[in-house]
Amino acid sequence: MRTRTIKEGGAKLVVPAQPRTHDVFFNPEMELCRDVTSLAVGAFQKRARRKLAVCDALAGTGARGVRYAAENPGIARVDFVDLNPIACGLIRRNAALNKLHPWKVYCTDFRIFASEGRGYDWLELDPFGSPAPYLHDGMFLLRDRSAISVTATDTAVLCGARAAACLKNYRAVPVNNECCHETGVRILLATIAAHAAEFNCGIIPLFSLSRAHYFKTVVEIGQGAEAAGQSMAELGWALFCPACGHRFIIKGLAVPLPASCEECGTKLKIAGPLWVGPLWDRRFVKSMAALNEKRDYGQKKAIEKLLTTIYGEAALGPLFFDVHRLCSQLKATPPRLDDLVAGLRKKGFKAARTHFRENSIRTNARAADLAKLIRLRS
Ligand SMILES: C[S@@+](CC[C@H](N)C(=O)[O-])C[C@H]1O[C@@H](n2cnc3c(N)ncnc32)[C@H](O)[C@@H]1O
Ligand SMILES: [Zn+2]
Repeated sequence: MRTRTIKEGGAKLVVPAQPRTHDVFFNPEMELCRDVTSLAVGAFQKRARRKLAVCDALAGTGARGVRYAAENPGIARVDFVDLNPIACGLIRRNAALNKLHPWKVYCTDFRIFASEGRGYDWLELDPFGSPAPYLHDGMFLLRDRSAISVTATDTAVLCGARAAACLKNYRAVPVNNECCHETGVRILLATIAAHAAEFNCGIIPLFSLSRAHYFKTVVEIGQGAEAAGQSMAELGWALFCPACGHRFIIKGLAVPLPASCEECGTKLKIAGPLWVGPLWDRRFVKSMAALNEKRDYGQKKAIEKLLTTIYGEAALGPLFFDVHRLCSQLKATPPRLDDLVAGLRKKGFKAARTHFRENSIRTNARAADLAKLIRLRS
């Protein structure tokens, strides 16, 4: 296999010369995802106040584990796992090139590796497609107050384009509407919470991201029946009225769900079970942004903008509105988003943009309040 050496973040990486080679997988377009996750590793190290033992499972070229250790001073060691021997060869070259210490490569199936139950503070799961097949085994590797960092590229499944596959892989019903990226991330989190609960553990989402063709989420795992119970209590349902735009969350799994919209009587669309609690810890996001300031990433400005938007929306609850969609339903001219946010705040509502979608806002106002304001302004 022909290779080339690139610089990404604070590391030099030997990667396949052809990005989409069948020998070893490396996607240059995931650079921002690797940047942001490296910031999350740094923020988690500060939060945990200890050195972190990292496992880069499904490692490919080892780009993630190598970068996390090269860019963050608090890494105790990195273990890499990949079943592809050619990938393992590249991981060894990359770990040596970046002078990691100590590190080890396990050229085996992750599920066999996980059954040996070593303890890590950070488990990176960055598979092809769905992470669902690795979540159960991943739980064997996590200590109390450790973090699991999960990528999902099966967004079409989680966003409702392939509802049967979502039911099969995530035991959840998705929706295919303007909020589908948020509900998709929430379905992924519900699945992580359910696997953690089987191990008597709870989850605290620290950071979530939806971008391009992927979702990324970082959650803290806490041991104990109480923690498990608390996070299972954060599962519930998202309900959408396709006619008037009314939307809301129902917390709890064993609860009756209304069939029709209380505002207009139309049959509701229901997604879930999904995580209805926070998607972010705001202090954690702030800590990531502070680290980004100090780093020299190629996409530093884009990351700053992204983290600012996320910090703003993290103060608000689930489900946002696509303003353009609402306006076309109302046959109204879309207002400037910033004006609408200001107008909502003036009326005493909370409002912020969301990173999930352009022309959309997260607010505690109801669809009817929003419609009134849009009509007034158009
Ligand atoms: C999406 S790639 C990883 C990309 C890498 N994290 C990066 O940022 O460049 C997924 C990797 O998982 C490996 N893999 C797939 N199934 C595996 C399994 N069951 N056990 C270990 N490795 C596996 C593949 O060989 C591939 O290298
Ligand atoms: Zn309605």
